[in-house]
Amino acid sequence: MNCLVLESEGSLPVWREMPSPELEPGDVRVQMTAAALNHRDVWMTKGLYPGVVYPVVPGSDGSGVVVETSSDHGAWLGRSVIINPSFDWGGSETVQAPGFTILGMPRQGTFAGEIVIPAAQLAPSPEHLTPFEAAALPLAGLTAWRALFSRARVQPGERVLVTGIGGGVALFALQFALAAGARVAVTSGSPEKLERAAKLGAECGFLYTDPDWPNQVPERFGRVQVVIDGSAGPGFSGLIDVCEPGGRIVNYGGTAGPLEAIPMRKIFWNQLNLLGTTMGSPSDFAAMTALVNRHRIRPVIDEVFALRDGADGFRKMDAGRQFGKIVFSA
Ligand SMILES: NC(=O)c1ccc[n+]([C@@H]2O[C@H](COP(=O)([O-])OP(=O)(O)OC[C@H]3O[C@@H](n4cnc5c(N)ncnc54)[C@H](OP(=O)(O)O)[C@@H]3O)[C@@H](O)[C@H]2O)c1
Repeated sequence: MNCLVLESEGSLPVWREMPSPELEPGDVRVQMTAAALNHRDVWMTKGLYPGVVYPVVPGSDGSGVVVETSSDHGAWLGRSVIINPSFDWGGSETVQAPGFTILGMPRQGTFAGEIVIPAAQLAPSPEHLTPFEAAALPLAGLTAWRALFSRARVQPGERVLVTGIGGGVALFALQFALAAGARVAVTSGSPEKLERAAKLGAECGFLYTDPDWPNQVPERFGRVQVVIDGSAGPGFSGLIDVCEPGGRIVNYGGTAGPLEAIPMRKIFWNQLNLLGTTMGSPSDFAAMTALVNRHRIRPVIDEVFALRDGADGFRKMDAGRQFGKIVFSA
């Protein structure tokens, strides 16, 4: 089968033939219809993701049709599915087990004609979504859901700030928070992306390229109870400034690089809660897809590339030009 393969650190993926994997007991074979790019895949091309063993077929997200099953899982045959990319989460809702992995390294990922995975990782594709929208959902949707609901425990009517709204996780956080009855403000490096977020329901937008933006928050939106951030970087202390006393800041990534000095006094004096989050448990995944089905939420697709031209998608994400998910047609 043909796949997008990362052959070495520092290079973009190439389109090449790889052997088709064999089924083990409990596995199914999914013929991929579409796959979606996450920043994790881009980090891997730059040597910024730990433990990568090359060559590797990346890709954590996908939708497809089950074409072969091991004996116990025949009921999945012919069904349209999405894949939960959290593998071996373990039995705790608090934290993943030490053996936890994410689909697409070390295990072969979704940027391929087909994939072999345990049937336990499957979920029915939401019926209101196209195969491209379905492929866009799992990793970013799961991360956003856990950040908002398992970690921040967002309540209806609360004010939520979502940073870097052009990002895949950030857009799901906006859509899910609105569905839960929260009020949402967003940041971006682009005025056009702020306008697009407003059309999706963001009440207020701030340009993080303007160093004064945190000072504008109290008047234009009000200090927030919850921040959902995937950027970290030098601007992180601004997130502390825009929180109400007792606020919760949930971080899931560091796109903007390491933190500069953190004003600890503001954190302890204001009783702030700094929370980390990663991916999610099987029950987080089930709750996320239930929310998407209940509210008929549609992932925001930036652009669909043919899988063989996937390197163009990697370049676009690396340049931060996307608004929403970059998807590959298998
Ligand atoms: N912990 C986990 O489980 C988990 C899961 C998924 C992702 N992640 C991490 O989370 C990050 C985002 O992932 P993604 O797939 O959503 O990536 P993405 O689609 O590439 O989004 C990245 C976004 O970061 C924003 N950004 C860049 N510089 C910023 C800054 N200085 N301040 C605020 N925002 C800034 C940009 O927003 P604008 O375009 O609006 O400027 C950009 O769209 C990545 O670092 C990824 O590795 C972690």
